[in-house]
Amino acid sequence: MNLDLTDIQGNILRAYGFPFARYVFLNFTSQHQGMKFLGAVIPHITNSEIWLEEKPSSTLNIGLSRSALTALNVPTASINSFPVEFLNGMADRAKALGDVADSAPANWDDVWQGRVDLWISINALTEEDRETKFKILEDLIAQTNGAEILAIQNSNALTINGAPSKKEHFGYSDGIAQPDFEGSHSVNTPGDGEIAGNGKWKDLKNGEFLLGYPNEAEEDGNLPVPMLLAKNGSFMVYRKLEQNVKAFRDYVDAWGERYPGGKEKLMAKFMGRWRDGTPLALSPEKMDPELVADAQRSNNFTYKDDMDGAKCPLGAHVRRANPRDSILFNGKLASRRRIVRRGMPYGNYVPEGETVNEEERGIIFMALNSSISRQFEFIQQQWINYGNDFHLGESSDPVLGNRPTPGRFVIPGTGEDNPPFICSDMQSFITLKGGDYFFIPSITALHQLSAGLIDPR
Ligand code: HEM
Repeated sequence: MNLDLTDIQGNILRAYGFPFARYVFLNFTSQHQGMKFLGAVIPHITNSEIWLEEKPSSTLNIGLSRSALTALNVPTASINSFPVEFLNGMADRAKALGDVADSAPANWDDVWQGRVDLWISINALTEEDRETKFKILEDLIAQTNGAEILAIQNSNALTINGAPSKKEHFGYSDGIAQPDFEGSHSVNTPGDGEIAGNGKWKDLKNGEFLLGYPNEAEEDGNLPVPMLLAKNGSFMVYRKLEQNVKAFRDYVDAWGERYPGGKEKLMAKFMGRWRDGTPLALSPEKMDPELVADAQRSNNFTYKDDMDGAKCPLGAHVRRANPRDSILFNGKLASRRRIVRRGMPYGNYVPEGETVNEEERGIIFMALNSSISRQFEFIQQQWINYGNDFHLGESSDPVLGNRPTPGRFVIPGTGEDNPPFICSDMQSFITLKGGDYFFIPSITALHQLSAGLIDPR
């Protein structure tokens, strides 16, 4: 399907793959100055056009929260047409999302204790490029007086052994599986789209990630009005997830000694992939660097020959987050629960064996989807924090689960010689430090917003 690539923000259709990022949180100063600021930012926004020559050295994208729409005085009928979870915001959904105890909104970073209208992201090739783009943003703010910066969050690929790495702080390779959809810049990677039968895959429908197009149910979904505001936009979830590296390492060290397969295999069972990214579904006994390096194979698997989880546990992170064909309707249900993951780690990596200092570190998790409630919230609520769909009752994701009271993780066995192994006394390894839901408008919609032209009739 031909999409208007000049109208769609670039972060929806492609992963930029830059090692440095900065997320800037802002409030509009007033309606009119705010409209001026928005208008001034538009020419600097990176759209989805194909980069025919080399990549630009930096990119810029923008998202608006509900309070931004109010600040811009968007007509009430239009604001009310937005999905309820977006209107309520992420803090309001905390209980349903399991964001309780240390992860509860009262404990989030200061910036999330008040109103946040805008998320502006800068991705860059070098730290210098990031500063150059940030200076442009600061100049636009100074020229228009239309926004004030509340906070900034830097994020970067982890430097391990002197080089930028694909790893996150617990040591796993990340950024492998990603839903291919008709309009995404990456298409036809086996395993990334949806199951098409006979070992084949096909791209998901645009409407799962882009507003204004048919989704997997051949419906348009409940779109905000008017269509000009909604079309070519998307919704983004922003979550700052702090990783407690010491607790995680101590746990896998201690339980790795008890588990017959040892620590490395235990970590693979938690994730569903070995630390180098090799999927357990394809290589349950060992890492396979050649397999991981081959994009045609590294994500090309299903779970239907492993329904008991002997290879990849039913509760492993990647199997919960995308159960593929292991739940109802041969993968069709999972196709309605996909998310495009963007984002990167923040903080410095602590090499294994070294004392973990008190500095902040974790992942800036960002997910794009056309329905936050059907896609992200469902995964977080039903699959990450709760395990009923996998016959695991209340047991939560071993890596991500919020466990104010310690939980457990079951590694299924294969019979009498190899009984199930149960890891117990498992605390939370992740604490949510804040975030919200943002609307990522099209360039057309941004023009309309900056000109005060939204007419819901
Ligand atoms: C600190 C937090 C997190 C860590 C350390 C983490 C780590 C990982 C790793 C290492 C992978 C495997 C590599 C890959 O397939 O790209 C992965 C995959 C994935 N994660 Fe996470 N993740 C985190 C948070 C989340 C959250 C909050 C969600 C959603 C609610 C999520 C959803 C997914 C999905 C959908 C996949 C791909 C699964 C597939 O298609 O096979 N992750 N994650």
